[in-house]
Amino acid sequence: MVIDVHCHIIPNIDDGAGDINISLDMCRIAQEDGTHGIIATPHYIHGTINNTRDLVQEKVLELNNSLRESDIDIEIYPGCEAFICPELPQLVREGQVCTLNNTQYVLLELPMNSVPTYTQDVVYQLKLDGYTPIIAHPERNRTIAKKHDILYDLIGRGALAQVNASSLKGLFGEKVMHTAIELVRHNMVHLLASDAHTTGGRSPKLSRAIDVIEREAGAEALLMIMKNGEAVLNDEPIHIEEPVMYEKGSKAGFVDNIKKVVSGFFSF
Ligand SMILES: [Fe+2]
Repeated sequence: MVIDVHCHIIPNIDDGAGDINISLDMCRIAQEDGTHGIIATPHYIHGTINNTRDLVQEKVLELNNSLRESDIDIEIYPGCEAFICPELPQLVREGQVCTLNNTQYVLLELPMNSVPTYTQDVVYQLKLDGYTPIIAHPERNRTIAKKHDILYDLIGRGALAQVNASSLKGLFGEKVMHTAIELVRHNMVHLLASDAHTTGGRSPKLSRAIDVIEREAGAEALLMIMKNGEAVLNDEPIHIEEPVMYEKGSKAGFVDNIKKVVSGFFSF
């Protein structure tokens, strides 16, 4: 089963689908593209965009009813894209923040320009509470783009990472595409998602990035990444390759880089 774990598919709830017709068209696009299920991940920003678990679950129910009425064979599941803040672990614990299909997996959004100093603390606390944070599109974060090993460190602390299909195809520019490819090469990508907002450029097509992942990381890595979406949906452990520390100018797989991977450091 192909599952899109990050998609702004619910109408009128954030900057995603503007109305129900756009939501349905997005679902048609996803279905034609080979996706079987979508986890709805509207933005949640503490104190600003209050898309709580209860609200998301209600909206998902409505959208699934509309899909049945329209004969579109795709299932929507609840979730959210939670913008990082120091209070996030508490909000997750209290059930304000909707985890991905109510599992252990929390989709975590970082600011575009920085990685806040409390990010490690948030990851640590979520892990301590039994949750697994998934960093949404790290390739779009300008600090990680300059220093990929910030993500390497977060993965070592138990976080996962999700790349946008559109990033791998250059929709956000060459720099983001280059970072996305580097992260794939260095085993720092565990999930592929659309992060779709519309029926246009940011549409829910995962297939467009499949060739890039296969070219850069091989067929086995591609299969693992695709299977991981279903594992998240079912609250199962996902498959993880040990990440390779980044070294500017080098390619993943080089012996020098592999030597830097400290065996047993990763907590999976
Ligand atoms: Fe998003």
